[in-house]
Amino acid sequence: MKIGLLGFGTVGRGVVERIQMTNQQLTNTLSQQINIEAVLIKNHQKHQAEKQTLFVTNDWQVFSQKCDYDVVFEAIGGLEPAYEYTRFFLEKGIPVVSANKKLVAEKGSELEEIAESRNIFYSYEAAVAGGIPIINLLEGSLSTTPISKITGILNGTTNYILTEVKEKGVTVEEALSQAQLLGYAESDPKDDIEGYDAWYKIRILAKLCFGSWLNPNKVERKGLNDVQQWHIELGQKLGLTLKLVAEAAYLGDGEAKAEVAPAFISNDHPFTYVNGVTNAILIEGPTIGQLCLQGPGAGKEATANSMVEDLLFQSNYEGKRSKSSGVQSEVANSFNHYFIFVANEDLQEGILEVEKDDNQICAQYSHPEGEVYVVKGQDITSPFPVIKIIGDWDPAQVKVETESAILFSL
Ligand SMILES: NC(=O)c1ccc[n+]([C@@H]2O[C@H](COP(=O)([O-])OP(=O)(O)OC[C@H]3O[C@@H](n4cnc5c(N)ncnc54)[C@H](OP(=O)(O)O)[C@@H]3O)[C@@H](O)[C@H]2O)c1
Repeated sequence: MKIGLLGFGTVGRGVVERIQMTNQQLTNTLSQQINIEAVLIKNHQKHQAEKQTLFVTNDWQVFSQKCDYDVVFEAIGGLEPAYEYTRFFLEKGIPVVSANKKLVAEKGSELEEIAESRNIFYSYEAAVAGGIPIINLLEGSLSTTPISKITGILNGTTNYILTEVKEKGVTVEEALSQAQLLGYAESDPKDDIEGYDAWYKIRILAKLCFGSWLNPNKVERKGLNDVQQWHIELGQKLGLTLKLVAEAAYLGDGEAKAEVAPAFISNDHPFTYVNGVTNAILIEGPTIGQLCLQGPGAGKEATANSMVEDLLFQSNYEGKRSKSSGVQSEVANSFNHYFIFVANEDLQEGILEVEKDDNQICAQYSHPEGEVYVVKGQDITSPFPVIKIIGDWDPAQVKVETESAILFSL
């Protein structure tokens, strides 16, 4: 089997190493030897060492004209030129295995259509939650399972930051600097902090669970930008852990809703102890109850492992790959607790705003920096920071840990 490899960074290198490490098993499984025919990179100078063992080029014409690949792996990232290159191979009838969440979320619909019309696969197991085999689980073992809701911690960088804040008492900014030092966060962390990374991923998962691509304009996205230290502290005192959560739920009649937002997790929820760069995904449906997966969301070995397994899965799988529909979730009618945070300087305006929408205020807690109003409702919005609570949490059951920090609850 002849492989063309687009990109030779963290993931591309991992793919080559994984193929070399398990070459014999792969040969036995595929009944043929796998060979990396050519590797496309951008900067020639960086790749002198690899040229001893691999055919490495920065010339797209050279790479594309070889064109007798059986499969192409895309590990360049971003929209262009990954989109143009992927399209080129799919149109030629050559299947593509991708790790590129942004490309899949933005152009997946069109690329899948091309692949389907050529009766080949465009697959992207590694694009969501790196090492967790969620895509092929949804397309394989759960392909006819009705799913009502899928929830995930899909961004390792923000989960690392929030874990450090909780465990070491550092600020979000300090934890971000540490994440950058350790290589968990890019020098420009916008995609992670502003929630774009998780937003691409939940759009992909929603498509697989409910059968069609959502309109991206209707998928809400909030990152950690509005989260302040005292919000996190107050949540912790009430037994809640802050996470950046992505969620998609089926509402019935072909409609689904999805969002990425910070959420407080109650301590009985499976996500409470998902720490550091680890990812987790909770799938819910009437025939499976709750199914929770947890594992590495990124990293060279785990991501490359997913790409290679993706090739094997797709090569052996002849069933229909996409799910037809979801099953209605209770989300449409469910009431949740939300925290609305109002800083001291905004208190006058804040209480008017909180009371304005006939919100059912069920508790109020004070912090030296401001007040939090606990409101029960559906899709609560406010000009002030709002954080939803996930899991079973009832203000009536809360034991206030620090009386001096929290003055009263209604
Ligand atoms: N890193 C992870 O843990 C991880 C996990 C899951 C998914 N992913 C996804 O995997 C993809 C690759 O990520 P990565 O971390 O491996 O990125 P990376 O380390 O930055 O590697 C990107 C590779 O693509 C090459 N490249 C960039 N622009 C190019 C162009 N215009 N033409 C040809 N080659 C080009 C680069 O060439 P040079 O080497 O010459 O610069 C480099 O080899 C992304 O979509 C990412 O979201 C990554």
